[in-house]
Parts: sequence; structure tokens; C-alpha cells
Amino acid sequence: MFIAVEGIDGSGKSTTIKELKRFLEAKGEAVYLTAEPTSLATGRIVRNFLGETNSDTPLIHEMLALSFAADRINHLREEIWPALRKKQTVITDRYFFSSIAYQSLNVSYEWVKGINRFATLPDVLVFVDVKVDKAVERLTKFRDSTELYEKKELLQQIDRNYREVIKEFEDKLKVVYLDGNLEISEIYGDIEKKFAPLFAGKK
Ligand code: ADP
Ligand code: TYD
Repeated sequence: MFIAVEGIDGSGKSTTIKELKRFLEAKGEAVYLTAEPTSLATGRIVRNFLGETNSDTPLIHEMLALSFAADRINHLREEIWPALRKKQTVITDRYFFSSIAYQSLNVSYEWVKGINRFATLPDVLVFVDVKVDKAVERLTKFRDSTELYEKKELLQQIDRNYREVIKEFEDKLKVVYLDGNLEISEIYGDIEKKFAPLFAGKK
């Protein structure tokens, strides 16, 4: 099974993924956890663009979008496809839905979708659905530096873009909405409830 987890910055995605991994392992799945941007050489290029410390070089948004796509091809070849061939359950923290939601702030939605057409569709898209105010509150509370997209007005637009891209893909894959507003201790229960239909019939 191939699962992509998406959500705006501060949605609690990483925390949710830890709980999802624990849940899937309890179901007997061999979980392969991975993320974009990757820790491969291509991921380092992307991260260089994202840190605001680099602001002396003007950011070309098409170049950033292509770098995310290049990192994604590398990710599929080096990590995701091999793990799926080994029958592992792959969870990726962000995938091409991130590119569409974030890069289409600055470049055309259709163009971003086009340069990501190579990306295998996941079986399940998990969207960590959080109130933008709550995400911003977490980001200001827990982080001492801000990245490119970590601003309220941008996150509001990214949230709208996510809903648009999800609507577009909703009939092509299974979409699971997890509640990102919950307390950490409540997340596991939400996962159990929403993933139960996917395991119905399995032990
Ligand atoms: P993301 O990966 O979406 O940026 P994280 O999971 O890293 O988010 O969470 C950002 C911060 O918010 C972390 O410091 C984390 O401990 C805190 N946090 C995450 N989820 C919750 C939650 N459900 N309730 C309260 N705080 C949370
Ligand atoms: P990430 O490391 O997941 O940040 P966080 O832990 O804060 O969620 O991602 C870094 C940033 O990169 C995040 O702001 C989202 C952005 N991003 C894109 O703009 N496009 C993409 O295709 C991906 C994968 C990430």
C-alpha cells in the first residue's frame, strides 16, 4: 500500500505520521517511512531554496517547482518503488499534491500538475485537516525561524489549493481526512476510526 500524507505547515503532519505508523504496524504492516523534500542530493537543492537565509539569490519559482519534481523522480526510483516491490507499506510525508498546493501560489496550477504527471498515484491520500489559525499558532510557538511558506495569508491560500487538488483526485484514489485540530493523545483514535474501512475483512 502506498500512502501520501499532506497538510499545511503546522498541521501536525509529522506527529500524525508517527501515530499512523504505529497503527499500521499494529495491523501487521511493514512500514517504510519517507518524506519530501528527500534527504537525497536532489532534496538538498530544494532545501537550499526554502531557507530564507538565502535571500540574496532571487527565487525563480519555476526552477523551484522543477527541483521538487526532480527530487520526486529520484525519490520514486531510489526509495518508493523499491519499497513497494518489497511489499512494504510506504508512507510519504508530502508528495506531488504539495507541489500543486504550494507552487501554484506562484506558477500555473496546470503547469505544476503537468511536470508531475510521471508520479505514481498513491492508494491513499491522507489530508491532515487543520484550522489555519491553529497551524500558525503551532508554528510561532514551536519554531524559531520561518521558512518560505510559513505565513498566515500564504497558508490560507495553500489550504484552498489543497481542497481543490483533492477534489480533482478524489475519484482516482481513497482520501482520508484526519482531524489536525485534535490533541496529540486523540490522534490515534481518529486514525483507528477512519482507517477501519480500509482494513475491513483483514485480520
Ligand atoms: P508539521 O509536520 O505539519 O509541520 P508537526 O507534527 O511537526 O507539524 O507539529 C508542529 C508542532 O506542533 C510540533 O512542535 C508538535 O509537537 C506540535 N503539535 C503537533 N500536533 C499537535 C497537536 N495535535 N496538538 C498540539 N500540538 C501539536
Ligand atoms: P517539510 O519539510 O515537510 O516542512 P514541514 O515539516 O514544515 O511540513 O516541507 C518543507 C516545505 O516545502 C513546506 O513548506 C512545504 C514545501 N513543499 C513545497 O512547496 N512543494 C513540494 O512539492 C513539497 C514536497 C514541499
